Amino acid sequence: MRLRRCHHLLVELDQEARFDVASLLSGGDGLVRSARWLAYAAHLTAPVEVSLEHLAVLQAVPRDTWVTREAMAAQGEVVDELLARGLLVNDGEAHADWRSRDQGARDVAWWPPALIAHAHGGWGDVDIQARNESGLMLSSQQMVDAFGPAPAADHRRVPAQTPVPLSAPRHSDFDVLLAARRTCRNFDGDAVLGREAFATMMRRVWGAVGTRELAPGAVAVKKTSPAGGGLHAVEAYVLVQRVEGLAPGLYHYLAMEHSLEPMRLCSAAEAADWAHRFVAGQDWFNNVPVMVVMTARFDRLFWKYRRHTKAWRVLHLDVGHLSQTMYLSATELGLGCFVTAAINDRAVETALDLPPLREGPIALVGFGPRSDRITTMELDSVVPVTPAHPD
Ligand SMILES: Cc1cc2nc3c(=O)[nH]c(=O)nc-3n(C[C@H](O)[C@H](O)[C@H](O)COP(=O)(O)O)c2cc1C
Repeated sequence: MRLRRCHHLLVELDQEARFDVASLLSGGDGLVRSARWLAYAAHLTAPVEVSLEHLAVLQAVPRDTWVTREAMAAQGEVVDELLARGLLVNDGEAHADWRSRDQGARDVAWWPPALIAHAHGGWGDVDIQARNESGLMLSSQQMVDAFGPAPAADHRRVPAQTPVPLSAPRHSDFDVLLAARRTCRNFDGDAVLGREAFATMMRRVWGAVGTRELAPGAVAVKKTSPAGGGLHAVEAYVLVQRVEGLAPGLYHYLAMEHSLEPMRLCSAAEAADWAHRFVAGQDWFNNVPVMVVMTARFDRLFWKYRRHTKAWRVLHLDVGHLSQTMYLSATELGLGCFVTAAINDRAVETALDLPPLREGPIALVGFGPRSDRITTMELDSVVPVTPAHPD
């Protein structure tokens, strides 16, 4: 058996209070507050507690060349402990998944802190509705009671200064569209989305408008939203539940030719199950006719922005722009829509068979006909804010 150290490892000195049975049994409050080392590896999804002895062995094991277990005999059982925790990776079958994820981290020019945040920030199997029902989510009132009032909505930086009022804004149909935009949490669970409305949404939001070859092997893409580096490294995957002319299932949108690659066709019940898991059990979104998962192709953006401190941020901004274009397009078509980042990343990765750490989900949007009854809260009625302007 040969082994090597995983490629990326960040170590944190953690001192958050944590549950401890021994503390309870000895009459304490059940919490332990001592400092401990936590190692965050890019190919793992949870941190691993380590000792200084573990860290010394990790430093001694090469990262880029394989060594035999015998060559590390002097390090004794600590090597086996690190292998069991995944911080050392071997070339055997049992470590195939870890190796494949670690290879993704090696091949793509990630900035290490972003890589760790991405790898460890994903969700596996969260169910928000179930948490709500078991009382695990705090209401706004409970948050205020526990943490005091939220920092003010009306944020002043120089309260001693008199603000300069701006002139009255102009109004056009665009303002009517902007004012009508809102997040829908009440879809018509029986409605089928018409094929033209669906095609219009896909083309307007994710379709490529044009391309320009910047150099042989480097093609910039133009869409209706801006994108960092002109690369448009965000992909759109469609989960169809009820669209005229399309079987339920998962599809990949081809931005260049405005068509769908069928990936996994399935029954309506299976599509509903994916929808439920993708949005982490947010019941108010489940029955939307169409969801679009937006994934980031890290390998494409980081090809240009190599180990760049801003590149991961750029991908989130790209997805945000696409989301707003989606909101406005849906509003113009009279459809309800939403965006959520509260997604079960692992369920999405598995369903779409995404290459680990080369491409990953960032957010999910959905759109379709609204229900005529509001049962889950929307920000439809608000207290109007009257701007101060002189004329
Ligand atoms: C990045 C992002 C993530 C969001 N995630 C959720 C979510 O998980 N669940 C949800 O019900 N709404 C979600 N929303 C919708 C917001 O709650 C909503 O935009 C906000 O309440 C304002 O309402 P409006 O969009 O109607 O103006 C999200 C919005 C954004 C921009």
